[in-house]
Amino acid sequence: MKKLIFSLLFVITHVNIAIAAPGDVAAGKGKAAMCSACHGASGISAAEAYPNLAGQHADYITKQLKAFKSGDRKDPVMAPMAVGLSEQDMADVAAYFASLPRTAPTASTGDSATSKAVVQAPVKYVANAIAGKSLYELGDESRNIGSCSGCHGKEGNSNVLIYPNLAKQHAQYIEKQLHAFKDKSRTNFAMNQFAGAMTDEEIADMGAYFADTKAVANVKVRRVKAAALDTEAVIAGKEKSAVCASCHGADGNSLVAMYPNLAGQSADYLTKQLKEFKNGSRKDPVMAGMVAALSEQDMIEISAYFSTQKASVGNGSGSEIGRQLYFNGNTAKGITACVACHGVNGKGMEKAGFPAIASQNAAYLTAQLSNFKKATRGNDRNSMMRNIAKKLKKNDVEELVKFMSTMK
Ligand code: HEC
Ligand code: HEC
Ligand code: HEC
Ligand code: HEC
Repeated sequence: MKKLIFSLLFVITHVNIAIAAPGDVAAGKGKAAMCSACHGASGISAAEAYPNLAGQHADYITKQLKAFKSGDRKDPVMAPMAVGLSEQDMADVAAYFASLPRTAPTASTGDSATSKAVVQAPVKYVANAIAGKSLYELGDESRNIGSCSGCHGKEGNSNVLIYPNLAKQHAQYIEKQLHAFKDKSRTNFAMNQFAGAMTDEEIADMGAYFADTKAVANVKVRRVKAAALDTEAVIAGKEKSAVCASCHGADGNSLVAMYPNLAGQSADYLTKQLKEFKNGSRKDPVMAGMVAALSEQDMIEISAYFSTQKASVGNGSGSEIGRQLYFNGNTAKGITACVACHGVNGKGMEKAGFPAIASQNAAYLTAQLSNFKKATRGNDRNSMMRNIAKKLKKNDVEELVKFMSTMK
């Protein structure tokens, strides 16, 4: 497939070069006067809807003008612009725009009438520039999305004439084109395939990346899982969590020692607890009242919100004895090392259902270990925690708690 795409584009490149009339920059400047109303006198447009043309590859500009003229690329604004242009005109304006420096920042000022007109209905999704950068550089083989930088170059500066520069292009224009490739109203074999596999959220991420590539220039790219649903859940959860704030803090960092921090706790674990407060398998009179009216969807969303908040450090004082016990357990007393399930950083293991205990309030940790020991809390699968807590003496608990609440 890759081979096919590349050989196809290779042919197009050559055909293009063979038929392109050599352009004249000076002549092009005169002919481009009519374009400046939208694309800017310097090829840098003031509005998000009008692409920057400065510094774009001449071959690419010519190809697009021909496509607008022939109707292969459909745009009601550009069609009448291109229809009167001869091949020589196209070559000249293309040479002119290609000769201009693409210097302007791309971040939308948002204050022009035009840019307001094209702003899409507010979506709840918060675009993620880092996710955009990651997809741009890594692509996603599992969905046949090629690495964009392979064709469009590092940060959108392409070295291949047939591939348009994307650097310093308006983010909204990039998004519009990706949607057009996705719904095939703009046709290009490779781009239809890649954009077709992208979600709307990923297209928004790509726009956010190009809105300010400098802002994330030093961020290392990584595989980002498609998090669209999570993110909507987080936003919905934030609203629904308002009633929890008085005890657990608006961001899940509780200001009162007896109430647990929820920030950074694994979402699956939180949801499990909420369900169990509701069905009574974890007993607490205060929380039972809080969850009575929550649906499963509410629980999932609230949990998603708290799990994405940053935990601040707990109120313990640290303990070397506690550290030893946490990492090594105590074979003589039959105490299993906590690290096995709660992890090196105390962040737990989401998939296995082991909660984070790092940065947790000391009083809350003490209470839970005591609850497990007395088996007044019995919602741990296979008595996992009850069996361990049984073996902990008062002193062990104190030292463990001092240590755990300072982990981060
Ligand atoms: C009335 C406003 C307007 C005028 C005047 C105008 N354009 Fe455009 N142009 C647009 C819009 C809007 C688009 C984006 C179309 C789309 O979304 O696909 C565009 C797209 C383009 C593109 C494609 C850019 C890319 O990155 O793919 C080229 C090339 C172009 N115009 C060249 C010109 C030239 C040359 C002139 C003058 C002869 C001109 N335009 C006059 C509005 C205008
Ligand atoms: C195999 C090479 C290739 C890869 C990989 C590729 N593109 Fe493209 N892209 C192209 C070509 C060729 C065009 C121009 C199509 C045309 O002539 O209309 C284009 C056009 C575009 C445009 C429109 C630019 C404009 O000025 O109108 C955008 C936006 C874009 N690509 C984004 C991406 C993104 C995002 C990715 C990664 C997910 C990507 N491309 C991967 C070849 C590629
Ligand atoms: C009036 C104070 C109060 C309010 C309001 C409150 N909680 Fe709690 N929450 C508590 C207390 C006290 C506990 C500890 C219960 C225990 O000891 O088992 C707790 C425990 C929890 C736990 C278990 C944490 C863990 O680490 O196992 C979760 C999850 C939780 N609350 C979520 C919520 C959510 C969601 C809301 C809002 C819908 C909420 N709480 C509202 C007091 C409150
Ligand atoms: C075999 C795995 C395992 C080991 C080892 C383990 N835990 Fe746990 N721990 C769990 C699980 C599972 C839960 C959550 C139970 C539930 O679903 O409510 C838990 C819950 C807790 C909680 C309550 C967290 C909260 O937010 O309410 C504390 C505190 C805790 N463990 C402390 C410890 C300490 C201290 C040790 C070492 C002495 C330890 N655990 C060892 C599996 C383990």
